[in-house]
Amino acid sequence: MQDQINSIKEKVATLIKNAVHSKELEEIRINFLGKKGEFTTLLKSLGSISAEMRPKIGAMVNEAKAKIEKDLEKAVADLKRKELDLQFEKEKIDVTLPGRKPQIGTAHPLTIIQNEIEDIFLGLGFSIEEGPEIDTDFNTFQALNFQDDHPARDAQDTLYVNKDILFRTHTSPVQARTMQKMHPEPVRIICPGRVFRRDAIDPTHSPQFHQIEGLLVDRDVKFSDLMGILEIFAKKLFGNDRKIRLRPSFFPFTEPSAEVDVSCIFCNGKGCSFCKGSGWLEVLGSGAVHPNVLRMGGYDPEEFTGYAFGMGLERITELIYQINDIRYFFENDVRFLKQFK
Ligand code: DAH
Repeated sequence: MQDQINSIKEKVATLIKNAVHSKELEEIRINFLGKKGEFTTLLKSLGSISAEMRPKIGAMVNEAKAKIEKDLEKAVADLKRKELDLQFEKEKIDVTLPGRKPQIGTAHPLTIIQNEIEDIFLGLGFSIEEGPEIDTDFNTFQALNFQDDHPARDAQDTLYVNKDILFRTHTSPVQARTMQKMHPEPVRIICPGRVFRRDAIDPTHSPQFHQIEGLLVDRDVKFSDLMGILEIFAKKLFGNDRKIRLRPSFFPFTEPSAEVDVSCIFCNGKGCSFCKGSGWLEVLGSGAVHPNVLRMGGYDPEEFTGYAFGMGLERITELIYQINDIRYFFENDVRFLKQFK
């Protein structure tokens, strides 16, 4: 019996020594100390031993059990620590490594210039109005005094969804929408937005581009008010030395209409390759709001007058940053985009 106890003790000691996982230690505990474990079986057989040996053997078994329990406890603690060390090693963070910098985007050049233009007009008391990119034929053409046979209504220029619904070809329908909404209150708005035309892509054409529309409707608005606003705008955007010049033009929604030039921002009017020697750069269209447009917007042209203007955002951004191909704006090439900070 004593030998048996000793051999179990030895066996357990080796098993504990070789255990590499806390699960194995738990198995050892069950196998030797558990209800069906080897010591329990041994204790059960004490009955067959002589009465004088019984207390001695019993004490031996209990002592062996106690030792194994203690060894197991220590082994479990050791292993747990080792496992934790291992885990710490695996999860170690090298705080001396240089950090990874996230790539920070930059504002798109069109956004930068749009913001500048918006700021200028907000400072002049205008507010910003937006309209849908898909609008009705009525708002896009009819309410703006386009005749039924106007070439812009041709399917060759306009992307139609159906007979009455289309991709807006300019931001001017926001004029019509705002007048319908605001009359008979005065209007003083700019409307930035995306517009669409059935154009093939090349350095100067794109089926999508952006415009910024302006509209002011009030009592006693004079053409000179338009000239004053545009001159302030040109000086604020292109520089204080700039002058503007108006050339007679035609738009269905304005009468009279004018094309507006700004003195060349590269040569300041002397004549260079950018202004093709003329000293002037064309930047926008404008005019006095046509009485028919006022009437269709709900205003009495006898009481109200107004002015409107419209500019191409790509054209102006190209001038400011000397970009010579409209396709750069839409290709999302980071080498292009990150130049504008
Ligand atoms: N809608 C015109 C275009 O797409 C631009 C324009 C010209 C807008 C004159 C205006 C304006 O409001 O008065 O070419």
